[in-house]
Amino acid sequence: MDTHKILILGVGSIGERHLRCFKATKRADLSFCETNEKLRKTIADRYEVSGCYNTLEEALNDRSKTFDIAVIATPSPLHIPMATQLVQAGINIFIEKPLSTSLDGIQELINLIKKQQVIAAVAYTYRSHPALRSMKQAIDEGRFGKPVQVVSVWGQHFPKYRPAYREIYYTSRATGGGAIQDVMTHAINAGEFLAGPIDRLMADAAHQVLEGVEVEDTVHVIARHGDILGCYSLNQHQAPNENTITVICERGTAKFDLNNACWSSMTEPGGEWQKEFTFSLERDDIFIAQANLFLDVVEGKAEPACTVAEGLQSLRVNLAMLDAADHPNWRLVNPNK
Ligand SMILES: NC(=O)c1ccc[n+]([C@@H]2O[C@H](COP(=O)([O-])OP(=O)(O)OC[C@H]3O[C@@H](n4cnc5c(N)ncnc54)[C@H](O)[C@@H]3O)[C@@H](O)[C@H]2O)c1
Repeated sequence: MDTHKILILGVGSIGERHLRCFKATKRADLSFCETNEKLRKTIADRYEVSGCYNTLEEALNDRSKTFDIAVIATPSPLHIPMATQLVQAGINIFIEKPLSTSLDGIQELINLIKKQQVIAAVAYTYRSHPALRSMKQAIDEGRFGKPVQVVSVWGQHFPKYRPAYREIYYTSRATGGGAIQDVMTHAINAGEFLAGPIDRLMADAAHQVLEGVEVEDTVHVIARHGDILGCYSLNQHQAPNENTITVICERGTAKFDLNNACWSSMTEPGGEWQKEFTFSLERDDIFIAQANLFLDVVEGKAEPACTVAEGLQSLRVNLAMLDAADHPNWRLVNPNK
């Protein structure tokens, strides 16, 4: 088995997880870059790594190392400039979501990826989730007939799971923050995986509960994936962990349940859910599955779960959601009031 020389860029919350989970594949030799000195020392002490750098330039100038993969886990405005620099150096890239906060430089990056013949993919994690992949396969095989509707219901208590939310990129849309760019994008990207690209939408969003920030924490979107109707709701403050995506087809319904790591189906009206596939509940296992799949792609054994073009499509949806939520076109129920 190949040992890949991997450079992780940014070892904050998700970068550390990538480091740990790529290591767990036993197919990788890990190095990382981190500008925060205290964190750099902590991570270097916590894991066995073969290189530890302050900046990307420092890593690329290390003549003793040739990296074949970089995982970009810095805040999203840095993704495209870093990806461009890495692809110019001939390095395969795995880019965290969202691809960016604007369309700047993305077409140029796609052209460069083609020219340099490197592998590139976007880390929309749920596309690598074995249960979601299994559900997609069943839908694509036509087991339930044609999909007609997608209903996605997501909610989680963000302060419990990300207590540092007031101190990171999350606080501002410009740095990739707010519920739309940070979390709704996962649901949308998974919905597009199952039902194809969204081509139009309407959105409503507001800051309702989260203390210490002003960005939206509650979002509703209705969308069209071609002729498939979609409806996506999300909040970041409810007590229950709820993350389901239901695809209603002409002859049956398929439901992905992230928190129970499974998908189920129902074809009998008023029947029982039939459990179709269950994965591990250990959160790292999804990221280890994602890492193994990406390494398979680099080795030519699999297709990317989310290409840069598909990441760009989901970014266009992010930008459309932000614009729609900021410029609502309400029909007043009682115009005289
Ligand atoms: N796939 C997922 O489930 C998931 C989960 C969380 C975050 N994310 C995405 O991952 C990215 C990072 O999120 P996070 O929560 O880890 O943020 P974070 O703030 O915890 O970590 C980002 C790290 O990047 C470092 N950094 C910033 N500029 C750098 C530079 N020029 N060179 C090297 N290091 C630099 C920061 O010091 C910080 O430690 C975001 O795009 C976010 O949307 C994805």
